Formats: sequence, structure tokens, C-alpha cells
Amino acid sequence: MAFRIAQISDTHLSAQHPEFTRNFDALAAHLRAAGPDLVVNTGDISAHGELAGDDVAFAREKMQSLGLDWLAIPGNHDVGNDPQCGGATPADAERLARWRSIMGDDFFCRDVPGWRLIGLDTLITGTDLPEVEAQFAFLEQALATAGGAKIALFLHKPLCEVTMAETEVTYWAVQPGPRRRILDLLAKADVGFVASGHVHQWQDRGVQEGLRQIWSPAVAFMVGDKWQEPMGTKPLGYLEHVLHEDGRHECRLVQPEGLTINDLGLMPGIYPMAA
Ligand SMILES: [Fe+2]
Ligand SMILES: [Fe+2]
Repeated sequence: MAFRIAQISDTHLSAQHPEFTRNFDALAAHLRAAGPDLVVNTGDISAHGELAGDDVAFAREKMQSLGLDWLAIPGNHDVGNDPQCGGATPADAERLARWRSIMGDDFFCRDVPGWRLIGLDTLITGTDLPEVEAQFAFLEQALATAGGAKIALFLHKPLCEVTMAETEVTYWAVQPGPRRRILDLLAKADVGFVASGHVHQWQDRGVQEGLRQIWSPAVAFMVGDKWQEPMGTKPLGYLEHVLHEDGRHECRLVQPEGLTINDLGLMPGIYPMAA
């Protein structure tokens, strides 16, 4: 029987932002009825977790309220951003420790029939924290011991904006150095797809440069074209991944009823203009 994953992303939960909570609650009602085998939240689970623990704890409670099996990896609003991007809240030891004290590990490995699911914390990969090397060792080991299972990789930031060869430091994708290291490890594995969040845009690129890359839409808000260049499209919703034991995989966009299309550009004061 196929294994169904609901990949949700960018829920940006906070007791301070009822608009985002309302979207989550509409999604939650849909998910409870749909009953996926697993929910994976690909980060920015909280609105301001990089500043304090309250929103991460609030987000954890909301995820628990689903009554479903779930896993999560952090985004830049949970553990801070790549230091290379500048900004006042870089990923660091304190932010990582705060996430771990509330949520547990910031990476995961889960086996389901025919597949190994791996989630990574890409926000720390540009830091010099000792957890970076530990995570690369974890990834190497998880790939080496997959035993013929197909790999599904979940990240917050996509591996690249357009091409794996891009060399700029960018807000929207994994930084070039860590990207190269991840790609070198993936090259030896049988990777079914790489699924990410962060951009608040939906895109299923099919297979490019040997990897199927899929961007999940956000749950909380989109950013209008006036403020953010379109790369994919900007619905709100989630992705259903259907994993078959023989390695086949289908992915579809689901837009549950009751989600309000919040445009961050029209919501001043929540963030400086970045998602
Ligand atoms: Fe986000
Ligand atoms: Fe993000």
C-alpha cells in the first residue's frame, strides 16, 4: 500500500499572528479528514522563533493538535538564517539549542516501505558549529545504509534558485559550499526527489541536473509580485507525496478550503520584507 505524506511548509505560527493561525487551523481540519500517514513540516514552522522560544513552543502545540504522526525541520525563522546572508539573527549555537530543547532534533531519518525519508537543517550548514559536521556525517551514513531504498530529501531552502552551478550567496537557496557537499553525497544515492519550502512559491521542476526538485507552497502567506519576483506560482496549500513501495512517487498540490491568501506585502510590521 502506498505511503502518503502531507508536506506542509512555512506555517509561520505565533500567538501574535491570528491570520496565520487561522490558515493553519483550516489546513489542520483538512488534514485530520484526509488522514495522511505522516505530516512533514519543512520549516519556518514559527513566525519569530529566531528571537525567542515562545513561537516554537506554540507551533509545536499546533502540530501536536493535528493528532497525526509528524516531523519537522527548522527554517530561518526558527533557528536563524545563513550567516552569509547578513541580518541580525544568524543561525548560532543558542538558537539551535533553543530549537532542540523544544522540538528535539533538527534533522530526521525515517524508513517507510521502499523509501528512506531524510530531513536536514540547512540553516546551520553555513556556520562553523560542530553540529554541521555531525549532520553531514549523519547524512553520509543515512545514504550509505539505505539498503536499496529510494531517498526522499526534505529541506527548508531549495538546493538552488535556478541551477546547481550558481555561485552567488542568495537569500532563497542553500549556500553554494554546503550545496556542493550535499550534492556530492547525493550523487552516490538513489534519490527520488528533493522537497523544500522557504520561497513561498510552488514549483515542480521535474528532473533537472539529475534531481527532481519540488518546492512546496506556504501555508501562512504569499508575497505579492510587487515585492517578490515570481519563480514558481504563489498558491497557499500543501503537497501530497504518494510513495509506492516499488519507488514510484506522485506529488500533487492541494489547496484546502478556508485558507486566506495573505499577502505579506500588505501586512506591514510582521517582517522586514523577506519571507
Ligand atoms: Fe517562510
Ligand atoms: Fe524561510
